[in-house]
Amino acid sequence: MAINNPENSDQKTPPASPLVLGLETSCDETAAAVVDGKGRILSNVVMSQLDEHRPYGGVVPEIAARSHIDHLDDIITEALQMAGIEFSELDAVAATSGPGLIGGVMVGLMTGKAIASACDIPFMGINHLEGHALSVRLNDAVAFPYLLLLVSGGHCQLQVVRGVGRYERLGTTIDDAAGEAFDKTAKLLGLDYPGGPAVEKAALKGTAGRFSLPRPLKGRPDCNFSFSGLKTAVRREVEKLGQEITQQDVYDLAADFQLALTEAIIDRVGRALDIYLEQYQAEQHILVVAGGVAANTYLRKGLEAACGQRGVSLVAPPPALCTDNGAMIAWAGVERLRLGQVDDLSVGAKARWPLDPDAPAVIGAGVKA
Ligand code: KG4
Ligand code: ZN
Repeated sequence: MAINNPENSDQKTPPASPLVLGLETSCDETAAAVVDGKGRILSNVVMSQLDEHRPYGGVVPEIAARSHIDHLDDIITEALQMAGIEFSELDAVAATSGPGLIGGVMVGLMTGKAIASACDIPFMGINHLEGHALSVRLNDAVAFPYLLLLVSGGHCQLQVVRGVGRYERLGTTIDDAAGEAFDKTAKLLGLDYPGGPAVEKAALKGTAGRFSLPRPLKGRPDCNFSFSGLKTAVRREVEKLGQEITQQDVYDLAADFQLALTEAIIDRVGRALDIYLEQYQAEQHILVVAGGVAANTYLRKGLEAACGQRGVSLVAPPPALCTDNGAMIAWAGVERLRLGQVDDLSVGAKARWPLDPDAPAVIGAGVKA
């Protein structure tokens, strides 16, 4: 996948601190950022399409793609202006080329290629999941390898990150992703979209312990996740409450859902940490959590406690770098550029693109990888 671009074969060694433009359009955020080789974020502009999708209670791919077309140029202009640079000062362009909603991915990819071509600079098609996986290295000097918990709207995985492009899967979800579980539960509870922040806010006003919700796969020897049973259990409680459901019921259910999901994740992460510490004998004991759900304060606290018990440090990007953004794509570009892993302009958009293509398939998880 990552090859030296023949069109740039006479390319000089990249500067010590290259300026990379990163574009992200794989879902419902239109984002552009400029990051330098030292991990300094010169600009990070994110335009959320929330208002356009809210009436439908979820992301509508067609609307997302059209909105990226309408806004990406302005977002890029803003990112360059905020960074105080011109196109001519860029050293490379990185754009998400999958996985994601294919129409949106194509918009960012084509735009990125056009800029790289016009400026005669290297182009890199970035795996969105790698953007999340490496995002922590933007702020913290976390060396490889580390154990990664990637929790987003479309994914829930545990990966050993050995290096750029070098991932070893320990576990994945066999049904829903963690963010998907938040979003679907929010819908069941009549809360706002996107569900994660809405459930977290509602849970603050509730008390956990009233409802008996499952902790899916707890105690299993593997490191996989499952969340669909949890969502179904919430639905049953909502049905039992019926028309009589009160605002306080909603808050309490949100608190119990968040507790159950957090405990389920912590159990699976605990299993993965035990395997990681035992089998990988890594010198540094670090768990990195990334992806939109990593913005959840309750989950972060739970993970911190689980890590503390094992003498492991939890490292998480700041919440604004957990949810989709262009800085993480630009940074993945910086990392790849350093290794000379630039792409040919023929690189295509991919709806599905696992971090670890060689990992064995998990029943029910095929479409999530
Ligand atoms: O990484 P992301 O921005 O996009 C994907 O790559 O999927 O993750 C979006 C997901 C959504 O499901 C959203 O509900 C969830 O992250 N999310 C949260 C929080 N903020 C965003 N989930 C729980 N608590 C939050 N504070
Ligand atoms: Zn994401």
